[in-house]
Amino acid sequence: MEKLSGPDLSMAKQRGKATAQVLKDVFEIPASMQNVGHGKTYFIRTYGCQANERDSETLRGILEGMGYVQNEIMEAADLILLNTCAIRENAEQKVFGKVGNLKRLKKENPDLIIGICGCMAQEESVVEAITKKYPQVDLVFGTHNLHRLPQLLEAVMTKHERIVEVWSKEGDVVENVPTVRNHAKKAWVNIMYGCDKFCTYCIVPYTRGKERSRSMDDILEEVNTLKKEGYQDITLLGQNVNSYGKDLDADIDFATLLEAVSKTGIPRIRFTTSHPWDFNERMIDMIAKYDNLMPFVHLPVQSGDNEVLKRMGRRYTIEAYKELFDRIKATIPNVAISTDIIVGFPNETDEQFQHTLDIVDYCQYDNAYTFIYSPRKGTPAARMEDNIPLKVKEERLQILNEKVNHYAWLNNQKYQGKRVPVLVDGPSKKNPNVLTGYTETQKLVNFEGDFHCVGKIVEVEITEAQTWALKGKMVIE
Ligand code: SAH
Ligand code: SF4
Ligand code: F3S
Repeated sequence: MEKLSGPDLSMAKQRGKATAQVLKDVFEIPASMQNVGHGKTYFIRTYGCQANERDSETLRGILEGMGYVQNEIMEAADLILLNTCAIRENAEQKVFGKVGNLKRLKKENPDLIIGICGCMAQEESVVEAITKKYPQVDLVFGTHNLHRLPQLLEAVMTKHERIVEVWSKEGDVVENVPTVRNHAKKAWVNIMYGCDKFCTYCIVPYTRGKERSRSMDDILEEVNTLKKEGYQDITLLGQNVNSYGKDLDADIDFATLLEAVSKTGIPRIRFTTSHPWDFNERMIDMIAKYDNLMPFVHLPVQSGDNEVLKRMGRRYTIEAYKELFDRIKATIPNVAISTDIIVGFPNETDEQFQHTLDIVDYCQYDNAYTFIYSPRKGTPAARMEDNIPLKVKEERLQILNEKVNHYAWLNNQKYQGKRVPVLVDGPSKKNPNVLTGYTETQKLVNFEGDFHCVGKIVEVEITEAQTWALKGKMVIE
């Protein structure tokens, strides 16, 4: 028999009044599971956003705590976890394709354990499809109960049946779960979980639950530890970092947190994502004031048309967006700004799409992530009438992308001949004779330099500016 405690989107939509609990001692590896991974390996594939990247690091921490070792080759692993994303249909199709492929592996090795977690696991339709069509999956768990992985694996191993455990009720803030990070110098730091904005097209408020902030003390403790470990670049994570602290009793907001994190002295501090709606002046001033708060802002606009923005539930007008954009540009020297844009929202007219092109011309973004609208079951937009053919949406995306690329290229030209600090990641994957790294403004640089500088911040002179990368030479004084 199969244990089924599946997701429920209508329950996930509810927002209770109670503040989230901070749970510091709920994570535990039972004695029976402490060596279970000894001599065994795991493989995790991560889809979606940085929240998932960070969660996968937690999964790594838990698995390594049970003795498992990471395997780079999926086919050779004893345990495979797919940490999934539900943001668009094509993201889900990729995962289903992968799960389909795993059937053969499971047949060859019946002891293989296959688990699905992340945002897709929070959707009824997905769990239903997995239950009906994919018997090769042994374990399904969601975004709110990662810390229960030891107990869930134990159930899979002892009961020899498929285990489904997904919590739909808004989660708490679980601290003290182990972590193994994927990068030695750059780290993600969660500052809050969930989202209460409920943009009409978006599944995230359902898959990630209500907005919950971590305490400032817990965040600062994590940042200070990272600093001691030699981390150079951290990104504060939340679906809406500007809402940080709204649910805390103390009088703390995102600007307060930014200042405190800046004072830890970690060399580079970033954050993502900031919703234009509650981005305030104090935040902008803070970024301008402290050198280690990076001059880079991701400011998703989604559409350039007021009627579409209204139907998207974005709660700002394009005029207010422009004002905010201008203020950021005027206050933070050499700031780079990127955005997200959706084309083909239900019944978006040619004229409305033109307004999106207009805002791109106005803002001349350093970078933009562009998407064709994808209806998500359970969201209000999925119930809106839509008479725009896919072909039209695809044409719009192409026109938009050409414009976006042009401005990315144009912004990069400003770097030509300049000297900029670059945090060195390592040899380029494409050409091992060349180093790669990122500028303060998050631009990728490929450059000739000293391989002993990996993990350090060095000066690079930019010799060529392309659309998506800069080329240069390390400055040796
Ligand atoms: N919290 C972030 C967004 C996270 S999702 C924010 O509000 O800025 C990342 C991006 O995916 C969104 O900004 C949006 O552009 C896109 N997106 C979200 N839902 C989508 C959908 N149903 N179809 C197409 N794109 C979508
Ligand atoms: Fe989705 Fe909007 Fe929340 Fe961003 S702010 S995660 S787009 S609902
Ligand atoms: Fe995807 Fe979930 Fe992130 S839906 S974009 S992985 S919050």
